[in-house]
Amino acid sequence: MSNLLRTINNLTYHRFDINDQDEFKQISKLIAIHLSEPYSIYVYWYFLNNWPQYCYTVKNDKSVIIGVIISKIEPHREVRMRGYIGMLVIDPEYRKMGIASNLVKLTIENMTQDNVDEIMLETEVINEGALKLYESFGFLRTKRLYRYYLNTHDAYRLILPLTDKAHTRIAFLPQLPQEQVT
Ligand SMILES: CC(C)(COP(=O)(O)OP(=O)(O)OC[C@H]1O[C@@H](n2cnc3c(N)ncnc32)[C@H](O)[C@@H]1OP(=O)(O)O)[C@@H](O)C(=O)NCCC(=O)NCCS
Repeated sequence: MSNLLRTINNLTYHRFDINDQDEFKQISKLIAIHLSEPYSIYVYWYFLNNWPQYCYTVKNDKSVIIGVIISKIEPHREVRMRGYIGMLVIDPEYRKMGIASNLVKLTIENMTQDNVDEIMLETEVINEGALKLYESFGFLRTKRLYRYYLNTHDAYRLILPLTDKAHTRIAFLPQLPQEQVT
């Protein structure tokens, strides 16, 4: 089965192939080199094994992976579906060509189809490129997380609301008495 999703400017966009060990190795290497936060192999496997449908890669004409986005979707407090973008990396040789934008767009399109209510992520407060990229899609800065990363940098939490449910502030709602819960 081909995992090819689309071809843009001679680069091919694919859905992750869970049976391809080489693809897994290429992805983990690309992320380990270019993301500031060191992730263990178990973190990659957690995402890729549980949500292979939410990992998209970009390959060059030599079939080498030069870009990847890894996400998941899960119910949040049993009232809404939350998408989460865990990692996004483009090989420096291929940056500023719109590749990350294409991957984020693909992720938003697929999460929308899967009835996701909001998409969340964190990024370093000093990562101007990533902030510009996500804010161009409508992501909003909702929190500053003090010393969130191992390198002691703060993070911004960004959220893209997709449906009205995203605006429900469930944390502040009173709990129903037990006898009323059916
Ligand atoms: C951030 C990153 C993913 C951007 O990838 P990219 O393919 O170069 O991004 P795009 O070409 O799609 O850029 C889209 C928009 O993002 C913004 N942007 C991207 N890189 C930027 C930079 N270095 N400085 C300022 N703005 C930038 C711009 O607004 C750009 O639109 P424009 O080209 O019309 O100005 C890439 O630089 C990267 O892999 N960085 C290291 C890992 C990382 O920081 N990941 C994100 C962590 S959450």
